[in-house]
Amino acid sequence: MTLLDRLAQRIKARGPITFADYMDAALYDEKDGYYTTKAAIGFDGADFLTSPELGPAFGRALARAAVDCWVAIGKPAQWDVVEAGAGRGILMRDLLDALTKDRPEAGRGARPAIIEVSPRLREQQALALEGRELRWASVARTLAPIRGVVFANEVLDAFPVHVLVRADEGLREVFVDVKDGALVEMLRAPSHPDLRYRVPDSLPVGGRWEVSLGAESWIAQLAASVGQGYVLVIDYGGDEADLLTRAGAGTVRGFSRHRLVSNALEAPGEHDLTASVNFTAIRRAAEGAGLALAGITTQRDALIGLGVREAYGRPTDPLDQLRAASKRSAIDVLLEPNGLGAYAVLCFAKDAPADGLRFLAR
Ligand SMILES: C[S@@+](CC[C@H](N)C(=O)[O-])C[C@H]1O[C@@H](n2cnc3c(N)ncnc32)[C@H](O)[C@@H]1O
Repeated sequence: MTLLDRLAQRIKARGPITFADYMDAALYDEKDGYYTTKAAIGFDGADFLTSPELGPAFGRALARAAVDCWVAIGKPAQWDVVEAGAGRGILMRDLLDALTKDRPEAGRGARPAIIEVSPRLREQQALALEGRELRWASVARTLAPIRGVVFANEVLDAFPVHVLVRADEGLREVFVDVKDGALVEMLRAPSHPDLRYRVPDSLPVGGRWEVSLGAESWIAQLAASVGQGYVLVIDYGGDEADLLTRAGAGTVRGFSRHRLVSNALEAPGEHDLTASVNFTAIRRAAEGAGLALAGITTQRDALIGLGVREAYGRPTDPLDQLRAASKRSAIDVLLEPNGLGAYAVLCFAKDAPADGLRFLAR
């Protein structure tokens, strides 16, 4: 039985489910969820591409960011380098390689760890990081107290969202029902009392607003697990004011083989589903759990501040020149002002200074 069949059966037996429950099943169902069994990140045969997949420049730059964090908390002999939601493990691999090679004095005491929920991606991470001593956890609490730095690249956009609609008769939530064998949207009263208070008053009638209670509690748990250091969140999205300018259609979308999926309710579990991150909500949740915002910048400015463009120099050998040119074009994609370069970098700190971090300097 497919996930679609199982969801249809469940809805027929027990009534419509929230869009958030649908998205949770589509991505994380134990048997058929996209991240549980099929997630494909990268180029060939994959569904979507992320920054680490473009080559080692991203990991090398973030290794410099990690070193800045290590210096800022007083160069402890032992410190944690944690990645949450590590995909295929490419960022962690490149970051640790760069740390060992370029800054061995920091690399020696680094304790790497990954927080990951997908069994499929954990396997891929283990392959990418073969030979490295590394801890895996499915929740941040297991690693507490973290002393060092936590990276979360494109993780918060993979959390289920509740979808609220300002209808003529008041606030409603999008639920998923079955009609003629297909999943369809329907509106009902909000499933959780808190949801009403998360929707800005200025959302126009007909407008949609997404609330990720899951992402908010996840960042709060992460915040509580940090003893000293930094959390770097890199993602697409906007603050509440930005998101309000787009409110209407909502931001939930699916990707399959690098193409947009037209109907998010079609073929659950077969493709990725994602939503833009509400940074205002994430900041509120992180600060409520003990982190302080040290700064916000873009991926472009952060990577330039970390010297990403200086990495390959100007070789004299013609073949090396070609290699350097191809690496430079990968870096251009990371910095693209209307693409990856526009992603936000939020840096949160606990018991750690906000100055001296090159990625926040521009
Ligand atoms: C869009 S992918 C990004 C992967 C990787 N960071 C990259 O840039 O290629 C989202 C990642 O977050 C993981 N993830 C989703 N929910 C999570 C959770 N609650 N805790 C930890 N990881 C999670 C997914 O399994 C996946 O590895």
